[in-house]
Amino acid sequence: MSVTGESDTSTRSRKSKKPASKPSRATKSDISISKASQALGALVTDIDLSKDFSDSEIATLRDAFNTHGLLLFRDQDISPEAHVAFSKRFGELEHHVLNDALLEGLPEIYILSNLKKNGKRVGRAGAGHYWHSDLSYMAHPSLGSLLRSIEVPEVGGDTMFANLAVAYDALSKPMKEFLEGLEAEHSFANVQKRVVSLGLNKPLTPEQLAQTPSVVHPLVREHPETGRKSLFLSPGFTTGIVGMTNEESAAILEFLADHASQPRFVYRHAWKPNDVVFWDNRTLMHYAINDYDYENDRRHMHRTTIRGERAH
Ligand code: SIN
Repeated sequence: MSVTGESDTSTRSRKSKKPASKPSRATKSDISISKASQALGALVTDIDLSKDFSDSEIATLRDAFNTHGLLLFRDQDISPEAHVAFSKRFGELEHHVLNDALLEGLPEIYILSNLKKNGKRVGRAGAGHYWHSDLSYMAHPSLGSLLRSIEVPEVGGDTMFANLAVAYDALSKPMKEFLEGLEAEHSFANVQKRVVSLGLNKPLTPEQLAQTPSVVHPLVREHPETGRKSLFLSPGFTTGIVGMTNEESAAILEFLADHASQPRFVYRHAWKPNDVVFWDNRTLMHYAINDYDYENDRRHMHRTTIRGERAH
């Protein structure tokens, strides 16, 4: 996609460059996986995401995904079609409700970008500047997201990921018992108000509002593949705990968000062009840091979002 309106030679962003030659096609035995941080995440090397993977290679990646919660692939100068094809190996893809931020002809790609073309935003600006789990405001919250960086600022625009399973394990037994059975309400309209007030986005249309009614999910969920329990927190989208007063609910949700976002549970990703980060929305929450200059820096990303199942 070509984006105009700002200089392509800007020295304030790092831009995706085609490597001189593509890495050779990986075989199963070439793939290597190593821990990215104590809290979560793994770096996967010797892999080209544009190749056709065998079922056993996908099973290896899926195991690593379930173990580490996040997989980082560097140097993936792949096409949007290859991004979608790889993502589809892990499940059905969503078309985001913000349809004017979808890639033309390939609506599985949701564009996260501060760039403008002919004075108009090319994608969603200001996305995720708060802790959240993608699409937690849907009845079937997302399984995972695959975000590919195309242009990123020289410095800034990192994304933080917090491990909500480890954060759950660290709670006391009485607190775990207290949380058992509690449910929280999630609403897209809630966060949209905040983003619109920053002047970055248009309000939701009546159709978009109708597609995103508030939903209720448990505060503690079990990972459908590993059975591991974790908090299910999405502070940007959560409006309250069912049955509690606003004050009670705010105090508990604030405590849980502060607890879960402690540095010991967090991996902070500093983007380079052509990174693909694949994270598990069932067990992590994330936060896109808005410390870069919206007018002069360039941050342009493509995301696919895998549909999940109901949270239990
Ligand atoms: C998101 O997927 O919520 C945004 C993440 C990012 O832009 O770093």
